[in-house]
Amino acid sequence: MNVSDAIRMAFGELAGDYDHVHHDAVAHALLELAPPGAGDAVADVACGAGAVALQVAERLSASAPAVLAIDLSEEMVAVGRARAEQRGRIGAIDWRVAPAVPLPVEDGSLDLILCASSLHFLGMAALADWRRALRPGGRVGFTLPLASQFRPSGTFAELVATDLPIPEDAEQALSVASAAGFADAESRVVTVGSRAVVAVVASKR
Ligand SMILES: C[S@@+](CC[C@H](N)C(=O)[O-])C[C@H]1O[C@@H](n2cnc3c(N)ncnc32)[C@H](O)[C@@H]1O
Repeated sequence: MNVSDAIRMAFGELAGDYDHVHHDAVAHALLELAPPGAGDAVADVACGAGAVALQVAERLSASAPAVLAIDLSEEMVAVGRARAEQRGRIGAIDWRVAPAVPLPVEDGSLDLILCASSLHFLGMAALADWRRALRPGGRVGFTLPLASQFRPSGTFAELVATDLPIPEDAEQALSVASAAGFADAESRVVTVGSRAVVAVVASKR
């Protein structure tokens, strides 16, 4: 089985029992650091059940393009769609079941690319693709686990990208963005219950 199939299967099994409380809180913290502008073209990369996309959709103006929400797992996206329907946001999100790297968008077409709790599966290739997909001055916002708490179990340990360093602290997380050529990076550690992650925002020059 290749990595994409393994990810599809692992998250497909998790979809019905997903921890929305934790992931909605992480998404909220990410959007505090990297808020969308009202009319922005935004992508939620490896969106899962849409923790980020749903909150972005609530902040955008009615004339903004639909948020692109893309994930490998059909089951996770189905949960996201159901949540969007419950919140009356079904038309505000363009759900896609597909690999997120490369993003299915034109070069320079996005204002903001967000990726919560997923970049460690995608690896550095995602950051390079985000530079392609963003317009000059566009922003990227992502979260990563902190090394001190990162203990992926079973299958998940084998699915983590090997070319992206898991940061020890907020300072090290900045270098993930700068190594990929992003500028003006800011980061902060976010604590949700007993778990901490680091959130980063940076710009494409
Ligand atoms: C821990 S979940 C996070 C989901 C969501 N961003 C959130 O904050 O709840 C990781 C997600 O990454 C997705 N994923 C991993 N690798 C992917 C890839 N190459 N392309 C698309 N989705 C991917 C998985 O299917 C899963 O839904």
